[in-house]
Amino acid sequence: MCGIVAYLGPKSVDSVLLVGLTRLEYRGYDSAGIAVLDNGEITVRKEKGKIKDLEDLLLTHPVEGTIGIGHTRWATHGEPNRQNAHPHVDNHGKVAVVHNGIIENHHTIRQELIEKGHVFHSETDTEVIPHLFEDYYKKHKDSAKALQETIARLDGRYAFVVLVEQEPDRLYFARSGSPLVYGRGRGESFLASDVSAIVPAAKEHLHIDNDQWGWITKDSLELRSKTGEAVPFEMSRTQIDVKALDRAGYDHFMLKEIHEQPGIVRRIIQSRMDDEGIVRFPEMNLPNDFLNRVTRCMITSAGTSWHAGIVGKFYLEQFARLSTEVDISSEFRYRNPIADGETLVMAISQSGETADTLAGIHQAKAKFCRVLSFVNVTTSSIARESNAFIDLMAGPEIGVASTKAYTAQLMNLLFYALFTAGIKWLVSKEEREQILHEIRLLPEKMEQILARADEIKKWASELRDSKDFVFLGRSFNHPTALEGALKLKEIAYVHASGYAGGEFKHGPIALISDQMPVICIAPQCDLYEKMVSNIEEVRSRKGRIISIYTEGDTIVPSKSDYSFAIPQCADYLTPILTVLPLQLFAYYSALERGCEPDQPRNLAKSVTVE
Ligand code: M6R
Repeated sequence: MCGIVAYLGPKSVDSVLLVGLTRLEYRGYDSAGIAVLDNGEITVRKEKGKIKDLEDLLLTHPVEGTIGIGHTRWATHGEPNRQNAHPHVDNHGKVAVVHNGIIENHHTIRQELIEKGHVFHSETDTEVIPHLFEDYYKKHKDSAKALQETIARLDGRYAFVVLVEQEPDRLYFARSGSPLVYGRGRGESFLASDVSAIVPAAKEHLHIDNDQWGWITKDSLELRSKTGEAVPFEMSRTQIDVKALDRAGYDHFMLKEIHEQPGIVRRIIQSRMDDEGIVRFPEMNLPNDFLNRVTRCMITSAGTSWHAGIVGKFYLEQFARLSTEVDISSEFRYRNPIADGETLVMAISQSGETADTLAGIHQAKAKFCRVLSFVNVTTSSIARESNAFIDLMAGPEIGVASTKAYTAQLMNLLFYALFTAGIKWLVSKEEREQILHEIRLLPEKMEQILARADEIKKWASELRDSKDFVFLGRSFNHPTALEGALKLKEIAYVHASGYAGGEFKHGPIALISDQMPVICIAPQCDLYEKMVSNIEEVRSRKGRIISIYTEGDTIVPSKSDYSFAIPQCADYLTPILTVLPLQLFAYYSALERGCEPDQPRNLAKSVTVE
């Protein structure tokens, strides 16, 4: 979390930094700041709140310059206020730093520096970096040496950029664990947490690797290894479509991303399936003979990606007959799982930067397991540290609440299960054709659901005073219940819990009263009758039923206070349809309750800290 951006070139640096920070705001939005070399002096402007608040500050307190660094923060150490906002400076204000990550040994370093006379002004871990740099600079009178010694003292994860007053034509940087990308345009250079912050100006870019450091000028990059050797590199052409980074007329990214889903699913179908219906993953470089030997899968992921993993387990077990475990990344990384060379560990992550998921990958590799990741950012740390990756192909997801990445995860997991079933000869040609026929019909069915968004908007309005919700689902739609509840919690700040229908009577049913709306995901598929029983149980205790059911079914709507029909489809495709009304429900509930759906409080898009 936290976004950093830095610029060196002919343009007014404040405007370049503001554009970059706005694009990175999904990474954190509780405070923001910039440091600019203005008339030879480092000038810092920072503010609590969003980038807009920083922009307002710059209107009344402008800065001028062509070299500078910027930061948007998601607080880890110290509350979100102006003092704790980045950039942080050294004792004399001659060195400024923006940082993404956590310096784990900051207490020790701070104590040591205080004893040497350094004065600290914030509660952040970051502030030790400019002070350490200052100390080593005093010793060496050389920024590169000062940086190298600074890095040698830091434990934890970081990507940071240093602006040094004495060096008006260079910016220094270092990376270990947190993402950092270098971008080059015409006579201008950039550093940023994510390439989206620096397009379209950065025509070429390079992802800085772990334990690399160096410096940039307006038209060059010097890259060094941990031990100080020059590292050769090759830049890649930047190919991000800037249009994908704006709201395209929608009020919020979340709504845009919800509506993008049918198109994304269509794109995934087209690229994963050839005309003969053969499934392919050209980017996945795991040999078929290894995949054939895999006896067990372990899925590790967090949040929405964990919910996708649970659906993935059903797919892998049903189609590929692979015994599959799913674990939350923050548990998996510490639980010393039993795994061997024939276990395939699958990491699922939209951002590809989730710290817990990344740590789980390290765990798995230490046990000699191969890791296949499902990522939406193919240049991310998770993609690069896995043995192979599958591109989710959802396009940049900006809304903090994951929507389109979730359906893209389900689609790719389904195709992966079918791919594995194919190499194990587990499905007949006829079965495969039937499955692929069903899949091809999916995008249109999704469109039909989204075209009825107004029905859901009405629910959100009528249920705006409800303080708690229960979501129930079974089998393929148990994860849908979890996901529907998560969406509502994270963007509308409404307490909601998702349960497997069968588990409900083992305790949670005590919650039911006439005040409690229960969202029942009850499409006509396996365990449909059991879901109907759940509905009866809630009704007989006077709970309010809101149901998602299959077109043509008359039983579920007759027992519901509110109901929404999804088109008929195969059982295993229902989670891709049933989640859509729940995403819309969360979105409209957030609006009804005066919440900002794209930037929910306390959250950040990528969770790069533990
Ligand atoms: O980038 P990842 O998929 O690894 O992120 C995992 C979770 O942090 C993420 O899904 C989070 O739960 C979302 N805010 C959910 O909408």
